Amino acid sequence: MFGGTSAEREVSLNSGQAVLVGLTSLGVDAHKFDPAEQSLTELISQKFERVVIVLHGRGGEDGSLQGALQQLNLPYTGTGVLGSALCMDKIRSKQVWQSLGLPTANYKIADKRSFDAGSCKAIMASLGDEVMVKPAQEGSSIGMARVNSALQLETAVQNAFKYDNKVLIEQFVHGSEYTVSILNGQALPSISMSTPRDFYDYAAKYQTDSTVYTCPSGLTADEESQLAELALEAFDAVAGSGWGRVDFMRDQLGRFYLLEANTAPGMTEKSLVPLAAKQAGLSFAELSLAVLATTDL
Ligand code: DAL
Ligand code: MG
Repeated sequence: MFGGTSAEREVSLNSGQAVLVGLTSLGVDAHKFDPAEQSLTELISQKFERVVIVLHGRGGEDGSLQGALQQLNLPYTGTGVLGSALCMDKIRSKQVWQSLGLPTANYKIADKRSFDAGSCKAIMASLGDEVMVKPAQEGSSIGMARVNSALQLETAVQNAFKYDNKVLIEQFVHGSEYTVSILNGQALPSISMSTPRDFYDYAAKYQTDSTVYTCPSGLTADEESQLAELALEAFDAVAGSGWGRVDFMRDQLGRFYLLEANTAPGMTEKSLVPLAAKQAGLSFAELSLAVLATTDL
């Protein structure tokens, strides 16, 4: 199932098409289903056995589809209702991690109903004068901005409100970005991403060739296993299951901070899970087949 109606539709069309080709190459009788164009009831009339969810963002990755499929008695891949909903929301994910003592950067929440632009100066001061602004429930960096003044913060928050009523204002961690892919309870080799852009934004993810992906990421064996353990613990804490990807920042002292977990991560040719799987010896088609078999039920 791919496409859908979220802001990440284009990404999902690329991810899903790649998975469809991968599964077909291994002899799976796989069919495209785009919920933007078809009604879920067709899943029953067409007698599908299993839904491979390669939808990103709201309506596909946030638990609502997972709940509907459960009501239809249709098995689906990956994380269930609770974990999907939790992971879709970066603020709730951080609250869970914080409550368990897992490392995540300091933050404030802006709520559209009560946001006071006059608070921007104090927010900047309390978070160290450089922050990331993120709609709570988006993906692929859509609606995000990196800012370093109260004036920029106000503009960025107002822009992020176009995507969500809740906005995360997160302390900027100076350092580098890492990600750990998870498949069936195992962490795949970590990847580090570096970009000449302001941050690893939508263009850096999908539209430029200037992003450098390093896998293996260059961590020592000890650091790699600590990061893997942290990723697995964090994924479990937000009820992630089957497959997914946990994103981190690493500061200049080598400390890792949890950013977010993705329960239906990108599977495009520029995406991270396929790169980590390749490093672990799994082809894209083999990865797709492994994803097909995942379940939370
Ligand atoms: N949200 C995008 C698809 C990702 O996590 O890869
Ligand atoms: Mg995401």
